[in-house]
Amino acid sequence: MATILVLDGPNLNLQGSREPEYYGEQSLDLIHHRLSELAQQQGVNIQFFQSNHEGAMIDRIHQAIGNVDYMIVNAGAWTHYSLALYDALKAAGIPFIEVHLSNIYARETFRHHSLLSPIAAGGIFGMGAYGYELAFQAACRFLNRNIER
Ligand code: DQA
Repeated sequence: MATILVLDGPNLNLQGSREPEYYGEQSLDLIHHRLSELAQQQGVNIQFFQSNHEGAMIDRIHQAIGNVDYMIVNAGAWTHYSLALYDALKAAGIPFIEVHLSNIYARETFRHHSLLSPIAAGGIFGMGAYGYELAFQAACRFLNRNIER
């Protein structure tokens, strides 16, 4: 059975209450609950990890090596500057889809650049919580076909 790991970076624990005009009103628990339902329907294992600590996130990515088939990654602000996260994802070599709840290109210019996009299989932004579902569906499709895209 394939395993998908969903990674959420800093401040995403506040999802649902912080800046709902950008991020919507669904809590991270609710988003994860929905993904768990979809995973059950699809017959895949799903795991979740959220951290506000860069080192903890990097440790989790290292643990995923050899244990996880695909990842869905919302790295929050780390997306825009964390070379350490970039290196960890690159070293892990696990295909991943980059997700952002908000449309990062319609916001401050510092959000327009993602260090992670060049090494992601693909990305979804501006679709709110539904972006996670879209990413999950895409991950399942790629896993079933045993292809990266
Ligand atoms: C975010 C966008 C980032 O720029 C921001 O720092 C976040 C959330 C999003 O989901 O839209 O924390 O990744």
